[in-house]
Amino acid sequence: MAKHTIVTMPGDGIGQTVLPEALRVLEAVGFEADYVHADIGWEFWKSEGNALPDRTIALLEKHRLGLFGAITSKPKGKAADEISPALKDKGYVYYSPIVGMRQHFNLDVCIRPCRSFEGNPLNFIRRKGDGFDEPNVDVVIFRQNTEGLYGGVEWTAPPANVRDALATHPKMKKFLDVPNEDLAVSTRIFTRQACHRICQEAFNYADKFGYTSVTVCEKPNVIRETSGMMEAEAKKVAADFPGIALWSTNIDAQMMWLTKNPEDYGVIIAGNMFGDIVSDGFAGLTGGLGFACSANIGTDCAVFEPTHGSAPKYQELDPSIVNPTAMILSACMMLDHVDEAEKATRIRDAIAKVIKDGRVGTYDMKKLRGGPDAIGQGAATTQQMTDAIIAEL
Ligand code: NAI
Ligand code: MG
Repeated sequence: MAKHTIVTMPGDGIGQTVLPEALRVLEAVGFEADYVHADIGWEFWKSEGNALPDRTIALLEKHRLGLFGAITSKPKGKAADEISPALKDKGYVYYSPIVGMRQHFNLDVCIRPCRSFEGNPLNFIRRKGDGFDEPNVDVVIFRQNTEGLYGGVEWTAPPANVRDALATHPKMKKFLDVPNEDLAVSTRIFTRQACHRICQEAFNYADKFGYTSVTVCEKPNVIRETSGMMEAEAKKVAADFPGIALWSTNIDAQMMWLTKNPEDYGVIIAGNMFGDIVSDGFAGLTGGLGFACSANIGTDCAVFEPTHGSAPKYQELDPSIVNPTAMILSACMMLDHVDEAEKATRIRDAIAKVIKDGRVGTYDMKKLRGGPDAIGQGAATTQQMTDAIIAEL
């Protein structure tokens, strides 16, 4: 039996295309593991009324290590329409299986590295004098993954006791006359423990990999309590790392500075929603969704996934045109996590060589319009891209 058993959750759409590509690369690099398939996604919402079936949770509970592709999720009305007739009107409520997984296993630390590969035509360039320069972006976002605005504590027409409790806050005065059905409330709950953990993990990472700064990207001047708590915990943790500078930026300003001086940032800490925003921002400078990888890490379970979704418009294309790199880089993060960093480095080096060489690239890297014609116009298929990476190994 191999040392690791990995729960593979391809999910929907291109999740089913890219996950097997990552497994091919893992095999080529000599990583020995057993894989067990687990069901997740829209199909299981339709057939079982649950996009994250209990048997999938059980497999993750047993093996504690998951590779996940992507899922499709659709709005409330569509979810109700598409559920199997046998389950209609039986009280099933759609809930995102990813958010569900993060909450169930308390995968509270989300890591999203955004690093430019030399020669990637999708890298951000900046006007300089008469020409352009291409800043080297090497940013790693630590996003609190389970609380905040995505914590799910929210109401339209809140119950009376919630309204009463809110009314004790002086700032509620201006909302007191709003009819209940016209009032929507989404809470932003932070806990000191979770803030501390994301800060601690971010500083440990910065220390281990030689980053000289950690930036808390929140909005403490306005959202004083929650952003303030994150900042306070970062300061406490920073005291143990005198060699690492602690900076603080506001999310709005950060999104503006992103393109001004992205090379100045190293590790970034943010709450759930701002982390989602700032990581998409930096991903856009380093190749976009075809390159954006992530890890969801709890104290005893971890799941690795590309940040892209199921890209339904490409799921039926044969051959497939989507870029497998984000999924493969996510698998590299898994290798790092299980102390196989040498293999992860070899894969990243192989990816870097393919990109620098420039001959083989998927439609996004060739700046082509996505669709069946892209292949004829010089884009590599998903499989050819993986083959090129494997050849460099
Ligand atoms: P998406 O990420 O699936 O696709 C957006 C666009 O990005 C695609 O049309 C394509 O142009 C490009 N793209 C995405 N992945 C790519 C890849 N590997 N290579 C090249 N190009 C790529 O987001 P969209 O279209 O907003 O959502 C589609 C479905 O995915 C929805 O049902 C949504 O709910 C779900 N979703 C799931 C996520 C997840 O599983 N983590 C994350 C985001 C969306
Ligand atoms: Mg996102």
